[in-house]
Amino acid sequence: MLKIDIITIFPQLFTNITDFGVIKEGKAKKLCEVNVYNLRDFTIDKHKKVDDRPYGGGTGMVMAVQPIDDAVNFIKSKNKTVNKEFQKVILLSPQGETLKQKKLKFLSTMENIIIICGRYEGVDERVRLLVSDLEISIGDYILTGGEIPAMVIIDGVIRLLEGVVGKEQSIIHESFENNLLDFPQYTRPEIYKGIRVPEVLISGNHKEIEKWRKEKSLESTREKRPDLIDKNY
Ligand SMILES: C[S@@+](CC[C@H](N)C(=O)[O-])C[C@H]1O[C@@H](n2cnc3c(N)ncnc32)[C@H](O)[C@@H]1O
Repeated sequence: MLKIDIITIFPQLFTNITDFGVIKEGKAKKLCEVNVYNLRDFTIDKHKKVDDRPYGGGTGMVMAVQPIDDAVNFIKSKNKTVNKEFQKVILLSPQGETLKQKKLKFLSTMENIIIICGRYEGVDERVRLLVSDLEISIGDYILTGGEIPAMVIIDGVIRLLEGVVGKEQSIIHESFENNLLDFPQYTRPEIYKGIRVPEVLISGNHKEIEKWRKEKSLESTREKRPDLIDKNY
């Protein structure tokens, strides 16, 4: 059972995503649990503030370390039975390591993932230094908060848990497996606006189909993502 704990100032944003698709499936099969914590519940500030002005000046606000540290410690104390080796605290940040399928696979082997969603100008550097184990970015662009990146991680990790995705959605032949993109897929009708489904796919010859798919997979990778071929994703 993978426990995912999210720390955010907008818990309501997660209300719907846990009730659909793979996340709902994973929860129903008791393969995962998703808990959302409101950061404001952990601040010692009497006005429930979780942010403050940056030292040194500048625009915007910075999320304070105290509420985040206390929230993480509270979650850890609730998850006492988790093996520490299989518990990771993730800080979402555009400055982190860019998320790849390999990292999702690693995270899917954990027992507990605690995700910190930043907002405003980001979080006090001491969160990275003292509280988190991993700093993850979902790409080289800036979003307003860590909630959407957290959803990306949750979705990507839960679908990798054994038993969540059915055979019909096999994850074995997917893009990024063996550093290759997936082969082209077709479904009915056989001809659409003059484009016919490749003959081999309706031949019933499984050996030939397998060969065609391997070739196309390599061809797609060379054409669209040649960088993958040399990389260890
Ligand atoms: C507006 S961003 C802060 C950006 C920060 N000032 C910087 O330039 O590095 C606010 C929060 O959104 C989240 N965020 C924004 N873009 C992200 C990305 N590409 N990947 C992961 N988290 C991101 C992070 O949690 C971040 O703390």
